[in-house]
Amino acid sequence: MQHDERTTLPDPDAASAEHSARVAAFIGARMAEAQGSLSFAEFMQHALYAPGLGYYVAGASKFGAAGDFVTAPEVSPLFGSVLARQCKEVLADVEGGTILEYGAGSGKLACDLLAALARLDALPESYQILEVSPDLKERQERYLREELPELVTRVSWLDAPPANHVGVVIANEVLDALPVERFVRRNDGIKQLRVAARGDAFHLVEAEAPDRLTKAVNAIEQDLGEQLPDGFVSEVSLGLSAWVSELAVSLQNGVAFLFDYGVNRREYYASDRSDGWLRCHFRHRVHNDPLILVGIQDLTAWVDFNTVAEAALLGGLDVAGYSAQAQFLMAGGLDVEMQGFASLDLESQLELSAQVKTLTLPGAMGEHFKCMALRRGNAGTPSAFSMSDRTHTL
Ligand SMILES: C[S@@+](CC[C@H](N)C(=O)[O-])C[C@H]1O[C@@H](n2cnc3c(N)ncnc32)[C@H](O)[C@@H]1O
Repeated sequence: MQHDERTTLPDPDAASAEHSARVAAFIGARMAEAQGSLSFAEFMQHALYAPGLGYYVAGASKFGAAGDFVTAPEVSPLFGSVLARQCKEVLADVEGGTILEYGAGSGKLACDLLAALARLDALPESYQILEVSPDLKERQERYLREELPELVTRVSWLDAPPANHVGVVIANEVLDALPVERFVRRNDGIKQLRVAARGDAFHLVEAEAPDRLTKAVNAIEQDLGEQLPDGFVSEVSLGLSAWVSELAVSLQNGVAFLFDYGVNRREYYASDRSDGWLRCHFRHRVHNDPLILVGIQDLTAWVDFNTVAEAALLGGLDVAGYSAQAQFLMAGGLDVEMQGFASLDLESQLELSAQVKTLTLPGAMGEHFKCMALRRGNAGTPSAFSMSDRTHTL
């Protein structure tokens, strides 16, 4: 499963290359201020979110054919229409519920969900979006105004999680965009992999790990019941637990649906995964080098779903379900959404089949992507977990 397509990466155009040089100079200046190196999480934070410069903040296309990657809502409106059925169930169980979406990307999922909820006669009073990128926030607003003028007034943007959220929370491919630390296990201790500059290129250096990182890796090893092998390189997301804790404080009654590519802890830190789970996306190529194309490629790390579940339990939420995306969609009403298939013309049938395959086949998004649902209060278990629930594998 190791991809390294560096040699086949296309060259960035002149404007992107110039932008990348500016981002690299900004990061180089932060390194100089920090006596020569940054933790990987600091590097990732700047590369993705440096104000006005980072990948998610500056104006690059990112999503869809003209960008670097596609997400499930960009693949097909079916993702949103099945998820809308789950939202309807939760909204029926809680009084006065609304929807809160984290990291709404292009705004496509919000648009598909609202349109589907209108068809299901289950529109919530309001749909809130919490987006860290001012550029994406603007794009989401424009997209929703153009695509859904009759419903856009229900949408609002927040700068922080609401104090007492009741209803549904959605985050699709947000957890994988949170900065991670990289580490290497040595027989004599945990080392932190830091990023330093040599000329105008970046490279990794090994340093003593700070306490927080050592404790996090030790806790993982304790849970696994064994020390990781000497030389084992991987990631740990110190921000993930904090993100889930914040969600737990905010969610008073309802269900959060978190979609991302990820696995359980045992798979995450299995000895054959000794190079970690960090992946870079540039013009629809996947590769392993986060230190090139700085600020113009996406950096993502698969999610250790045990970390999500542990932080949720600590915050008083329970895990209402955990399954692969394929089973979630199939049990959640994909068949109902496909009922008109036979009456479509051949071209539309082929297009829809291709979308369903991408969303559900194990080699595409069906198995690598998981949905974990976290719940507090009186909402029932979402029907999308009736076919498969892998919570016991955590
Ligand atoms: C990979 S994109 C996914 C976009 C969209 N959900 C989709 O499925 O197409 C990650 C999104 O999460 C946002 N993001 C990253 N960290 C966030 C955070 N802490 N809170 C809210 N949004 C965040 C990014 O700006 C971006 O919109």
